[in-house]
Amino acid sequence: MNKIRVAIIAGGRSSEHPISCISASGVLAAIDRSKFEPILIGITQSGTWIDMRQSDFERGSDGLSYVPEGGEKLIVDIHGIKDSKGSDLGIEIAFPLLHGAYGEDGTIQGLFEMAGIAYVGSGVLASAVAMDKSFAKPIYADFGLKVADGITVHQDNWNKSKDLEIAKIRALGFPIFIKPARSGSSRGTSKVRDESEISAALDDAFNYDPRVLVEAAVVGREIECAVLQIDSVATASVLGEVRVHPPHEFYDFEAKYLDGSTTFDIPANLAGPIASAISQAAITAFEALGCEGLARVDFFLSEDNQIIINELNTMPGFTPTSVFPALWEKTGKSYSQIITILLDSALSRQRNVIR
Ligand SMILES: Nc1ncnc2c1ncn2[C@@H]1O[C@H](COP(=O)(O)OP(=O)(O)O)[C@@H](O)[C@H]1O
Ligand SMILES: [Mg+2]
Repeated sequence: MNKIRVAIIAGGRSSEHPISCISASGVLAAIDRSKFEPILIGITQSGTWIDMRQSDFERGSDGLSYVPEGGEKLIVDIHGIKDSKGSDLGIEIAFPLLHGAYGEDGTIQGLFEMAGIAYVGSGVLASAVAMDKSFAKPIYADFGLKVADGITVHQDNWNKSKDLEIAKIRALGFPIFIKPARSGSSRGTSKVRDESEISAALDDAFNYDPRVLVEAAVVGREIECAVLQIDSVATASVLGEVRVHPPHEFYDFEAKYLDGSTTFDIPANLAGPIASAISQAAITAFEALGCEGLARVDFFLSEDNQIIINELNTMPGFTPTSVFPALWEKTGKSYSQIITILLDSALSRQRNVIR
């Protein structure tokens, strides 16, 4: 049997580059080699595509892995992916293990569409919408899901009329969360306790995105669900709970990556009916945005047991120890099995292009 040639794509231009490198190494080690032939491709932080059959990850000054800027370049265009001598790599499926901008936001998905390469995960529209919380929230609400109260502040409007924006923000009460519409890893996200902190928090968030969400803070628990499409059916995993410990007040960047101050309870300790309602909400969110392949859907469970969707990630952390594979391990599918399921569904998918 001919093996299916899979491009495992690592790195990328977003700040989550090093996490992506770990995810890709994990997939490379676990992919079923009796069925698939993996080829590791790197994208440097400046956006150059590198043939990782000829280079290794390099260690940055922070001790993390990066795709080397000086590696052997690939030629990528709408005709496909070629090596520097111009010979086509013959990629049948791309697995973009990329997080954030240019990886999870529909842009690379558009390139694969143009090149006619099958790929793992959501398409252009679902990727782009899920990435931008200011667009995703009204869609969730339209499908009957609860979202946190809030408004979107545009940088131009803030610069023009601060008083008007402050008045709208004040109406939400305090504390509030201020976060970029297209954030990731909690960058640019702050908890704001009173009016005096608004301006600095907005300026920080505007460093990441000219559109910023201001939301009433939800007091409660954070629950995550991993949705995987198995034989075309969106299927929810068991739920997990993220518990952040002091001094972290919320699931901020440090709590996510820098120290062991976060506990994951898998499965989350929840009453049966609440757990099933959250799983159902996860599937509803997946379908509302038209997601494909996989997504991790993150919720708040408020103190009065309201299920509030926070966000959906179309390419969640995918290292062997990340939440998505851990939730599926507990649900009965190993890391290797979920990789095979994702690749099979990428191949079988009809792209439904309108002509
Ligand atoms: N409205 C909110 N109420 C309570 N906590 C929030 C709210 N919005 C964000 N947070 C906290 O900030 C974290 C990061 O926000 P999130 O919207 O998930 O951004 P990211 O895409 O960077 O993960 C959340 O996991 C949660 O701890
Ligand atoms: Mg989040």
